[in-house]
Amino acid sequence: MGQHRDILVTSALPYANAPLHIGHLVEYTYTDVWVRFQRMQGHRCHYVCASDAHGTPTMLAAEAAGITPEELVAEIAASHQSDFARFRISVDNYLTTHSAENEELTAEVYRRLLKAGHIHRRTIQQAYDEQKQMFLPDRYVRGECPICGTADQYGDACENCSATYTPMELKNPVSVISGTTPSVKESEHLFFRLGDFEEELRSWVPQHIDEALARKLDEWFQAGLRDWDISRDSPYFGFEIPGESGKYFYVWFDAPIGYMASFLNLCRRLDLSFEQFWDADSTTELYHFIGKDIVYFHTLFWPSVLSGAGYRKPSGIFVHGFLTVDGLKMSKSRGTFILATTYAKYLEPDCLRYYFAAKLGPTADDIDLNMDDFAARVNSDLVGKFVNIGSRCAGFIHRLNAGRLADQLPDEALFAVFAAAADEIAADYEARNYARAIRRIMALADKANQYIDDQKPWLKAKNPEQNDAVVGIATLGLNLFRTLMIYLKPVIPGVAERAEIFLAIAPLTWTDAQKPLLGSGIEHFKSLLERVDRERIEAMTQEAHSPV
Ligand code: MSP
Ligand code: ZN
Repeated sequence: MGQHRDILVTSALPYANAPLHIGHLVEYTYTDVWVRFQRMQGHRCHYVCASDAHGTPTMLAAEAAGITPEELVAEIAASHQSDFARFRISVDNYLTTHSAENEELTAEVYRRLLKAGHIHRRTIQQAYDEQKQMFLPDRYVRGECPICGTADQYGDACENCSATYTPMELKNPVSVISGTTPSVKESEHLFFRLGDFEEELRSWVPQHIDEALARKLDEWFQAGLRDWDISRDSPYFGFEIPGESGKYFYVWFDAPIGYMASFLNLCRRLDLSFEQFWDADSTTELYHFIGKDIVYFHTLFWPSVLSGAGYRKPSGIFVHGFLTVDGLKMSKSRGTFILATTYAKYLEPDCLRYYFAAKLGPTADDIDLNMDDFAARVNSDLVGKFVNIGSRCAGFIHRLNAGRLADQLPDEALFAVFAAAADEIAADYEARNYARAIRRIMALADKANQYIDDQKPWLKAKNPEQNDAVVGIATLGLNLFRTLMIYLKPVIPGVAERAEIFLAIAPLTWTDAQKPLLGSGIEHFKSLLERVDRERIEAMTQEAHSPV
């Protein structure tokens, strides 16, 4: 094993105004596989997340539901947390950004930025809803595109011609909230000077993000790093800005600070050192897993805020693409907008984790879920190739050796071939090339099945004189199964737990692949994983179609 590492990992914080769907699960699977892999290596890997509480959408959703934003956040955050548990996303801590820790840290970060001269004020003009008495975020104004005239466009960009503009430029603008024509009102806002960090970012960005994305970011540098508006006027659901009246931090200012806050909360619970991970001279590693839609925030704003406030910057930003279903965006009318809870009601979470992992790599390409392919892949790989090895071998051990494995392997070279794959597969996981890791693992599974097919233990078992040979073959088969289980454990932790019970062993770690399991007793084989059944997929799609 290499050197010991201290790692802090985060996933993007899901908005607290809606439950999780399977698109979110791409992200949490992408992160969790890596985290579990690091822990199996013996590294210390903390994984924190939270629900992103603040902003206008939460405020309005709570209002529509007739509850307070705090109540809505508590309710949705609880649902996020139980979905995390169901999908075995192994966070060490799950907080919300509407927490004491986040308020404390956001104020501290702001105070430091202010002191260092990175904040300034400017009066801006903004669309205002006179009836509702609130300033309107860009997305809450709709009208005709000022360039091409397409009707019913958002206040920030046109879906038809891709032009970007401000809501005031729309023709015949309407407030989405009240339906009235917005007026234009002035207000003083606080800005973070992103430009102060241009030089630092130009060298930092290419070293901390995938190449293709760094090229994309180059376009943003070309366009110039504009000041970032970090304040919002009342009414707003957020933290009030210290020293101001009626001004709140913009949700995207305090959201990433939520990573620190969730970790601070963990530190206070477990008596860990917050400073060890966040001080400017920290030698620990910090990684943010995010989707491709929020790259700007994490690679430009966030490192600048951290740097400006005297904290360390991330060690890497790991970006994944978007989930499509049958090649299209998830859609309620097609029954492909599937909530995490809906999926879990009908199918085993590990199957979705496996399918996603088999398609995830180090780049931000979109990944597609096709239900036929999903069923075929899980049934053929996990059930047909992998679990099958265990079920083929266990019976012989019980029938011919009282449930005890042999003391020796009949073919040590074959076991060694499996053990030798540990480093390559580890390198794939480390590089987030889960697809390649799984291809290697499944190639080994084919080899294991081939061995059993060649040895034909079911024929040899007819001759009592061959009992020892059969027990030896089954012992080797189960050891190959166990090695595969080690390699798959970051992806399918639920199956791994059941397999550990079956083999009557302690939780598997990566180095266990180097030493066979011999001479010990095993339990009777119970199904580790059911086949994915078409009817259940059908029922799930039905429910997604018309939520009950
Ligand atoms: N609240 C912000 C993140 C703040 S991080 C300081 C946010 N929330 S979100 O709920 O919209 O998305 C959370 C994560 O899920 C993001 O990384 C986003 O890219 C990811 N996904 C949301 N829908 C997705 C798909 N359909 N497919 C893949 N990932 C998706 O953004
Ligand atoms: Zn247009």
